[in-house]
Amino acid sequence: MTPDLRYPALSDLKAACKGRVPWFVWEYLDSATGTESVKPRNRAALEQVLFRPAVLRGPIVPQLGTRFLGQDYAMPVGVAPVGMSGLIWPGAEAALARMAQTTRLPYCLSTVATRLPEEIGPIAGDMGWFQLYPPKDPSIRADILARARKAGFRVLVLTVDLPGPSRRERQLRAQLAIPPKLTPSMLWQIAQRPAWALGTLRHGQPRLRLMEDYLKLDGNAPSTAHPGYLLRAAPDWDYLHAVRKLWDGPLVIKGVMDAQDAPRLRDAGADAIWVSNHGGRQFDGAPAALHALREMRAILGADMPLIYDGGIESGLDVLRALAFGADFTMLGRGWHYALGALGAQGADHLAQILRDDLASNMMQMGLTHAKDAYSQLWTHGPAPES
Ligand SMILES: Cc1cc2nc3c(=O)[nH]c(=O)nc-3n(C[C@H](O)[C@H](O)[C@H](O)COP(=O)(O)O)c2cc1C
Repeated sequence: MTPDLRYPALSDLKAACKGRVPWFVWEYLDSATGTESVKPRNRAALEQVLFRPAVLRGPIVPQLGTRFLGQDYAMPVGVAPVGMSGLIWPGAEAALARMAQTTRLPYCLSTVATRLPEEIGPIAGDMGWFQLYPPKDPSIRADILARARKAGFRVLVLTVDLPGPSRRERQLRAQLAIPPKLTPSMLWQIAQRPAWALGTLRHGQPRLRLMEDYLKLDGNAPSTAHPGYLLRAAPDWDYLHAVRKLWDGPLVIKGVMDAQDAPRLRDAGADAIWVSNHGGRQFDGAPAALHALREMRAILGADMPLIYDGGIESGLDVLRALAFGADFTMLGRGWHYALGALGAQGADHLAQILRDDLASNMMQMGLTHAKDAYSQLWTHGPAPES
């Protein structure tokens, strides 16, 4: 049976994933922070965007290919950085990088991945982006960027929406520490998920390998420090200028929600702004990312490249984000629900779901190019009577 018959939508992959990963892993992947109001807010904002169906336009051949930051991609969709990806599904980083390379979508490797840039860069090839959580120490920062560059990553994503830790109560209830420390209850949960357990045995214990490299060298680190200790910098504008100087390729600033920041980011040399509320994992008081996106596009005008993430589940959602001003969209959890459901094959299957759904909805809307989605926005209202 083809996966399309059993898992035609991301919701099917999500349900299957829940039954195949240990509970504490599910809580890590699926949770947000506080009352988790941002996740449904992101979804509701997307669902409120409606389009006019088009009729009598003859045959439509949707062109999904998109040029973005100097590179051609198969569609305006990519893989957002997810820390500890290899905890969620064994071998996740390599599987996603491979899917990205064969499907021609960007894959953004997190600073806190379980695999090193040197391992994943060659697999992602020209589809590789690298995400930086700001290290405190400038020499570590410079070294990480040099390693990412050498490993073949072309685009740098600086994440700026973690000025401090967030409580993420669901993770606390699941007793999840990063990196994970196994409790008897977790061992019991693992025993009930044999495919995950065997995969993890094969791939080795998920660890923050990149940061571990530096922790070994840091004489000041407390003996109990975990590798994230080195990342606890709250960056400022000077930090951004320093990163801009160090990276000669495209630089994307991720996690921007306030449109007032956007012009200054552009002036500081950002090549793109990634509008995101971190999927609701940082600040429960944040608005829907889609509304921030719209404000940002209004302030910046047409030229500044904008990326959107938060709650995307389908090709239709991609069109909604493009209609509100995005040039490109990303999914974080979605790819991992797919891996949890079907292993590496899940990532390919989700790419196909998104591609087919994008094309099918473009035909309903009479669009050859996805970037023209705004022209079919229902919220324009009926044309004024002349
Ligand atoms: C489990 C998990 C880990 C994440 N880790 C990172 C990370 O290491 N770096 C980062 O910039 N964003 C991280 N994010 C945020 C994602 O890049 C992305 O902004 C978010 O997941 C988008 O929302 P979505 O999951 O609804 O698609 C993480 C998100 C999740 C769910």
